[in-house]
Amino acid sequence: MLDARQITLRFLETKLQVHPDVVRYIQEQDDLDLIDRIIEKVPGDTIVVSTKHIPGMNATRDGMRFLTDPSVEVISGSPGTSGCVNGTADYLYYFRDRFNRLGAMIRNRCGAIPIEALIRSPRYRQEECTVIGMVTEVKATKNDHRIAELEDISANISVLFRKDRPIFEDAKRLIPDEVIGVKGKLSSDGRLFFADQMYRPDIRVDNTPFKSETPGKAVFISDVHVGSNTFLEECWNRFADWLADSGASYLLIAGDLVDGIGIFPGQEQELTIKNIYEQYDVFGEMISKLPHRIKIIVSPGNHDVVRGAEPQPVIPEAFTKKFPENCMLVENPALVNLQGVRVLMYHGRSIDDMIGLIPGASYDQSGLMMQEMLQRRHLAPAYGRRTPIAAGRTDRLIIDPIPEILHTGHVHIRGLAQYRGVLGINAGTWQSQTAFQKQMNVNPTPAQAVMVDLQTLVPETFTFL
Ligand SMILES: [Fe+2]
Repeated sequence: MLDARQITLRFLETKLQVHPDVVRYIQEQDDLDLIDRIIEKVPGDTIVVSTKHIPGMNATRDGMRFLTDPSVEVISGSPGTSGCVNGTADYLYYFRDRFNRLGAMIRNRCGAIPIEALIRSPRYRQEECTVIGMVTEVKATKNDHRIAELEDISANISVLFRKDRPIFEDAKRLIPDEVIGVKGKLSSDGRLFFADQMYRPDIRVDNTPFKSETPGKAVFISDVHVGSNTFLEECWNRFADWLADSGASYLLIAGDLVDGIGIFPGQEQELTIKNIYEQYDVFGEMISKLPHRIKIIVSPGNHDVVRGAEPQPVIPEAFTKKFPENCMLVENPALVNLQGVRVLMYHGRSIDDMIGLIPGASYDQSGLMMQEMLQRRHLAPAYGRRTPIAAGRTDRLIIDPIPEILHTGHVHIRGLAQYRGVLGINAGTWQSQTAFQKQMNVNPTPAQAVMVDLQTLVPETFTFL
C-alpha cells in the first residue's frame, strides 16, 4: 500500500493540498501515477484537491461510497435488549448487580471487609479498615461535616467525613446510590466510622484509549428537536452541506430527535408539527438527504416517543418509515464500536439530577458532569429522582467497559471533557432558546457539531449559526 505522507507530499510539491478521501482512494488503487493524472485535470485556481477532481469519479454524494467502509458493531444497546420490569424482585437484583460490579472495581484497589464484620468483630476496632457500600443517604451535620449511610449486602454503617480533612472535597460530591469504598476507623462504641480515605470505582490513571488504525471521522450531535418552532432549519441545512464534504464516515445522534408531543405543559403552542408521526417523518427525510455512505447511529432521549425509563428502547418501526437504510437504531444507552473506538452514547437525563446534588454544578458544565459519571462508573447514579430507571436484572447504566468516547446531550449546552483518556462530548442542540429555558436562565449553544478523528481522538467543534 502506498504511504499517505508520500502521496500528500507529491501534491504539496505542486502547491496543492489534498483531501484525506483522495489520499485514501489513491492508496486503495495502489497507483502512484494516478497522482499525476489528477494534477493534470485540476483547474488552476484549486487549493484543495477533493474527490470531484478524480478523473472518472462520480461527484454525487454517493459517489464516494466505496472509498470508506464504515463498520459499526453494537456492543450493547441493540434493539430489544432494554427488557421490561417484572416486579419488585427485579429491583433487588438490580441494586445487587450495581453494588457487586461497582464494588468489585473498588475492591481491586483496596482490600475491604464486609460492614457486618467491621461492626461485630472487636479486632477491627483497633486498626484502620476499608469497607465498600452503596450510599443510601448523605446529610450535613450541625458543624457542616458530612455523614453518609453506607450499606452493603451484610449491614449498614454511618460514616463521618470531617470537614477539616482532605477527603471532605470528595465527600461533598457524594450522591445517593453511588458505590464507594472508605478507609478509616470505627468508633469505640461501634456506631460511627471515621473516614480518612475514599475510593470511587473510577478509571485508572494509566487508562490508555484505543485509536483506530485506519482513517475515519465521526461527527457527534444530539437534541435536534424537529417539530419545535425553535428548531433551526437553516443551520441544519448548512450542517448537512458541510457534512457531505467533511469526510466523516459516522454521524451519531444522542437522542431528542424530535420535540415530541405532551412533554411539558403548553408544548402545543411551541410546535410547528403537531403530529408525532410527522415529526419523525420530517426527521427521517432530513437524515435521508445526508450522504448514504455515512453510517448514522441514532439513540432516543426523553423527548422521543419511547418510554422514559432507562434503558430506553429503540424508536419503534412505526415511526421510522422514512429513515434511510444507512441509519442504525440503538437504545439509550448504547455502546458502539467504530473501527475499534468504543463510543458510549447516553442522552444525559441524569445530568439534571447531578446538577441538583453536586454543590456548585451548573448546566454550562456538561463536561464536568461527564467526568462525574466516569468517576462513579455510572451514567445515572442517583435513583428515584428525575431520571426514571427501569430496574432490570443487570444494571445497564454501569460504565463498563471504559469507552474511548462518552457522548451525551440533553442539556443543550456544548461541553467537552478529557478525563483519564476518555473524551466526553456534548455537542449541544439544534434548537434556539425556548420559553422555558429563558425562564430558567439557560443559554443554549445551538447548531454545533463535534468531529473526532478516530486515529487521533482529537475533537474539533464546528458551528453552523
Ligand atoms: Fe433535548
